[in-house]
Amino acid sequence: MTENARILCLDDSVIELEILKHQLRGDKNNAYNAVFFTSPELAKEKILQNEYDVIILDYQLPGTTGLAIYDFIQTTSLNAKTPVIMMTGEGDENIAVEAMKRGVFDYFVKGNINNHTFQRSIEYAIRKKDLAKKKEQDDAQRKIMQMKMVSQSKLASMGEMATGAAHEIFQPLSVIRGNLELMEMDLEGGEIDPSEWRGIFPVLYRSIDKIQTIVDHLKVFGRSKENQKVETSITNILENVLFFWREKFEKDGVRVIKEFAEDLPVLYLEKGETEQVLMNLFQNAHDSLKIKDGEREITISAGIKTTPGMELWLEIKDNGNGIRKEHLDKIFEPFFTTKEGNQGMGLGLSVAYAVITSMGGKVDVESEYGKYASFTLRFPEKLFIQQ
Ligand SMILES: Nc1ncnc2c1ncn2[C@@H]1O[C@H](COP(=O)(O)OP(=O)(O)OP(=O)(O)O)[C@@H](O)[C@H]1O
Ligand SMILES: [Mg+2]
Repeated sequence: MTENARILCLDDSVIELEILKHQLRGDKNNAYNAVFFTSPELAKEKILQNEYDVIILDYQLPGTTGLAIYDFIQTTSLNAKTPVIMMTGEGDENIAVEAMKRGVFDYFVKGNINNHTFQRSIEYAIRKKDLAKKKEQDDAQRKIMQMKMVSQSKLASMGEMATGAAHEIFQPLSVIRGNLELMEMDLEGGEIDPSEWRGIFPVLYRSIDKIQTIVDHLKVFGRSKENQKVETSITNILENVLFFWREKFEKDGVRVIKEFAEDLPVLYLEKGETEQVLMNLFQNAHDSLKIKDGEREITISAGIKTTPGMELWLEIKDNGNGIRKEHLDKIFEPFFTTKEGNQGMGLGLSVAYAVITSMGGKVDVESEYGKYASFTLRFPEKLFIQQ
């Protein structure tokens, strides 16, 4: 691997460059893929165009210094993370110290170089670059993965939402239709009773208002896709989400208990993503309660904790079957699921975790198998709006 390592060397002295060539070769032949420059300008041009694994710079250069070139390297996109080794003259140790402070990887005093130490430093530098590169790739991969998870999970809960909304709209629509049919029949039969008709209008308006409320809720979810931060309260977010679960919870006999502390702070956060997190937690609670006999309860509580740091916590606890001890440290992993068939993708909690931690918050879980499962979201003080 190190044999193909790309190294750029810059020294204005041809003789010094020859020595460097020799040192780089060590006891191997052409150990590295190295290029050599005496002109700072030419070297800078190459640094802009190619990515290197290590860059070796002389400190004393015509019209510039190795440190100035180092600063230049930090501004490039290809080599900002490339380790730089500085070669200084005797008596330039102070400069070397300054260079190290600024982030130069290593330094050597010319004329005083131990070949073995020099080679080892280069090997370390190459390894460091390798690791940095790998980390960069892993981070990019993780980001893509998270984005995919958020949108997949969003799709799933959009389905939930659509079903909930359709059901809610169906009821007022039938009321409107039924009353209009009655009025039409009256008209055709020529039996218009104004006092009866007057009684119908409030019913129609109430039904229309109901549909309006549902549409407003749907709009909130639609807008949330833009991922914008807004000032909002945790109770508002919660109500938006519960709206879509109400009917399902009722149908399956799930009692929802709310216990909120007073004076909860207003938060400034990504509302849509937070709604997504709650959607996922309710989905899990519902999945667990659905297959359990006896009383089904979800307790939602929220409060402020002041130590060690100030935070707003929101707990969603269900008295379903809970989580097995051996699963507790796996449930936040993407694609971990205990649900059979196509019932779960294992994404809900990993998305919740990604969203909340990216806000600087935390997600805690507690459970006793066979008794309950509880998830607590912790929103840090930096999201509070001062009032
Ligand atoms: N409230 C809960 N009660 C019991 N088990 C839970 C609860 N919440 C999560 N789990 C466990 O954690 C696992 C992972 O949850 P997660 O939400 O990440 O995925 P999923 O629900 O299986 O699938 P998806 O959310 O993608 O539909 C679940 O399969 C389940 O075993
Ligand atoms: Mg889930």
